[in-house]
Amino acid sequence: MDTANNGQFVILDVLDTEAIIQTCVSNGVGTIYHLAALLSATGEKNPELCRRVNVGGTISVLEAAKACSLRVFIPSSIAVFGPDAPKHAPQHTDLNPTTVYGETKVEGEALAMASWKEFGVDVRGIRYPGLISYKAPAGGGTTDYAVEIFHAAIQDGHYDCFVREDTRLPMMYMDDAIRATLMLMDAPSGLLGAARAGYNIDCQSFTARELADAISDQVEGFHCEFSPDVRQEYADSWPDSIDGSLAKDEWGWTPDYDLPKMVQAMLDGLSQ
Ligand code: SER
Repeated sequence: MDTANNGQFVILDVLDTEAIIQTCVSNGVGTIYHLAALLSATGEKNPELCRRVNVGGTISVLEAAKACSLRVFIPSSIAVFGPDAPKHAPQHTDLNPTTVYGETKVEGEALAMASWKEFGVDVRGIRYPGLISYKAPAGGGTTDYAVEIFHAAIQDGHYDCFVREDTRLPMMYMDDAIRATLMLMDAPSGLLGAARAGYNIDCQSFTARELADAISDQVEGFHCEFSPDVRQEYADSWPDSIDGSLAKDEWGWTPDYDLPKMVQAMLDGLSQ
């Protein structure tokens, strides 16, 4: 065991249920934030590994939670929606994703809900939009362009974006995502209904061009070009925006960051 950022740190195999249980028991862990997963772009390159890690990891964590009476946060994603879902995605609609990553997230929500219903495991989840942070590097997702563009703007004054300029996706600044996660985990269980394993949450929605323009307003001479690759297909299968009214009603979620505020925070953070 080691320490990282003043906390306990231990390396675990997310598929090793016994090791997770041992670690929770010997360290008095009461809550797991289960963030180990492959994102969409990496997952589509290696579907078998994506299923093993994303679905298998969720099963291990839920089993550990059942054995140790833990509360669990299991992130879902806007990738649960497929091309047949409304472009402003409602909480409840048919979930027919066309990416393997999306399939693993639909399955994760179902497994989490079953653990809650059958065994009373206190599990909660959010369908995260694309998450944008200056502290964490882009992690192999389709929404990575919305992080990479900031680094490129500051370092090179130029970015080659891998989706079309009219690509519109739900996005969120990391501070909002963390706050939403903690708010959900702090909410009294009785407030949470049938969406507890995968809430839509209100967030931003902008096109790649709108993001580039907002950065150009702040970074003189910044220039963005658009050359779509295979990730365009994944982006096109996802909604443009999300209806988060249920999360607002049940546990009070509203975001703090709009596009200009996020662009400022990203540029300030990266310039430090
Ligand atoms: N941000 C994720 C991705 O792009 C979606 O959940 O894969």
